[in-house]
Amino acid sequence: MNVLHICADPKPTEESATKQLAVAFFTKLTQLSPDASITNVDLYENPPPYLSYHALRGFWYPVFIEGHQPTELETREGGYALEQGQQVNESDVLVLTVPMWHFSAPAILKAWMDQVLSPSVTYTLDKRGAIPLHHVKRLVLLASSGEIFKEDDPRDALTPLIRDAFEAVGIRELSIAWADGQFEHLYSDSEQRKAMALEAAEELAEEIAEELS
Ligand SMILES: Cc1cc2nc3c(=O)[nH]c(=O)nc-3n(C[C@H](O)[C@H](O)[C@H](O)COP(=O)(O)O)c2cc1C
Repeated sequence: MNVLHICADPKPTEESATKQLAVAFFTKLTQLSPDASITNVDLYENPPPYLSYHALRGFWYPVFIEGHQPTELETREGGYALEQGQQVNESDVLVLTVPMWHFSAPAILKAWMDQVLSPSVTYTLDKRGAIPLHHVKRLVLLASSGEIFKEDDPRDALTPLIRDAFEAVGIRELSIAWADGQFEHLYSDSEQRKAMALEAAEELAEEIAEELS
């Protein structure tokens, strides 16, 4: 089983509830699936470039303009997307470690998504829609937030962003472990909430180890 871990949290693990969920998830997964191959991409260590005009021309114009051949510059600027996309395409499981920032994801994750979720990178497009070039079976979102969020909370723009963007490229199995209510000054049960999310992250790892090993 190949697992790609994309981390979009700049904080050190001891200060980060989200990264602690990732530790719980991967500790359990590697215990149960010692053969799992895990690739870690820390977006803050190696920030993705924003999708440039030339890169987007190279990927998107062939979809809409018949006969458009990417130029040398367009191909060169598409290098990051292709390199990251290849890692997605080789994965069975994609894990996103994402704190909630302004009701959504940190911009650095969006920059990565804009690159990787391009046609000819992780999928091709025809009249029926997206045809995956990847074989990702499970998408895991490990998240945390200061506020408490109920399911389908209208303030939550993080879950729809992840769910809809990845669903559009054929990744429909989204599982979430979420430590909400992490604002300790507002919620006296922050620690219990984190403990429950850590347990949920471990349970997800168990489920995936059983399903994909
Ligand atoms: C830039 C920024 C924006 C944030 N925006 C929100 C928000 O919109 N809603 C919320 O509930 N918490 C928000 N928070 C709080 C974090 O989501 C919360 O502290 C979370 O536990 C951070 O996870 P981490 O400690 O793993 O980085 C924000 C924090 C930062 C730094």
